[in-house]
Amino acid sequence: MSEFTFDRHRRLRSSASMRALVQETHLRATDFIYPIFVIEGEDIRNEVPSMPGVYQVSFDHLLEEVKEAYQLGIRSLILFGVVAEKDEIGSEAFHDHGIIQEATNIVKNAYPGMLVVADTCLCEYTSHGHCGVIENGDVANDASLELLAKTAVSQAKAGADIIAPSNMMDGFVTVIRHALDEAGFHHIPIMSYAVKYASAYYGPFRDAADSTPQFGDRKTYQMNPANRLEAIREAKSDIKEGADFLIVKPSLSFMDVMREVRNNFDVPVVAYNVSGEYSMIKAAALNGWIDEKQLVTETLLSMKRAGADLIITYFAKDVAKWLQEEN
Ligand code: PBG
Ligand code: ZN
Repeated sequence: MSEFTFDRHRRLRSSASMRALVQETHLRATDFIYPIFVIEGEDIRNEVPSMPGVYQVSFDHLLEEVKEAYQLGIRSLILFGVVAEKDEIGSEAFHDHGIIQEATNIVKNAYPGMLVVADTCLCEYTSHGHCGVIENGDVANDASLELLAKTAVSQAKAGADIIAPSNMMDGFVTVIRHALDEAGFHHIPIMSYAVKYASAYYGPFRDAADSTPQFGDRKTYQMNPANRLEAIREAKSDIKEGADFLIVKPSLSFMDVMREVRNNFDVPVVAYNVSGEYSMIKAAALNGWIDEKQLVTETLLSMKRAGADLIITYFAKDVAKWLQEEN
């Protein structure tokens, strides 16, 4: 063998300690933003059928969820509202005592150290299930912006720490930034869903949030999954308009885009490990087809390796638990 020369890569894989020593990316509980679905009513804790382990909780069960996450070291949540009463313009989204405003208040009073990220969109509250107001059979951009700005301000008033607009209207960052500044919330950052594709991976979320569009689809405002350069254009606009974070969503089928965004911009990049990505892993795990802990760890580490600094994930509590067990 001595006549051959080659590299000995296996030297750095020889034991668990050696592998830990040279590991390049890591997961921490503070990397995660944990989504919670808040539903109207009392004593409700509904498991979402397409998302085993994820629950819609009423106000009286909300703090149990928050407490568990807090004790596991998680320091940020993103809240989604589930309501029965909807209208054409999604009024519940910007009502000062809307479901998210109230939930934010409850969480911040009990856990001031828990960051509350508010998802700023209308689709959970509109009767037609679209992310803005409808004019001539499509979502009207500029008319929707006004309502989104009102929503963001009411969320900030309720105590939200970060505003996360997810509606994909053009100009939402600048309009929301101005509205927040005018209302005295210049210190509240915007986490923009800058790069958001029209994806089949959102299916289970729409069950959980009751936000399936009642006609058509979201392809006139969310991006075509075939496009990469368009992601750069979207991210550029949002940075110019004042975004403090950039979200790439979904994650798994857009890891190349995650890397592009990381390489082109210098704000924190957030991967949204979306509902369908969660459900696929859960379904395989419940069938005993894959090792859930290993697969989830590998998947989330890959998002960080692809350039994500933070991850919005329904697995947050599971991973935080595994991390605690290791110590
Ligand atoms: C609302 C919103 C959606 C998601 C987050 N915010 C659904 C959509 O745009 O259709 C998807 C999250 C997930 O699938 O986990 N605009
Ligand atoms: Zn929406």
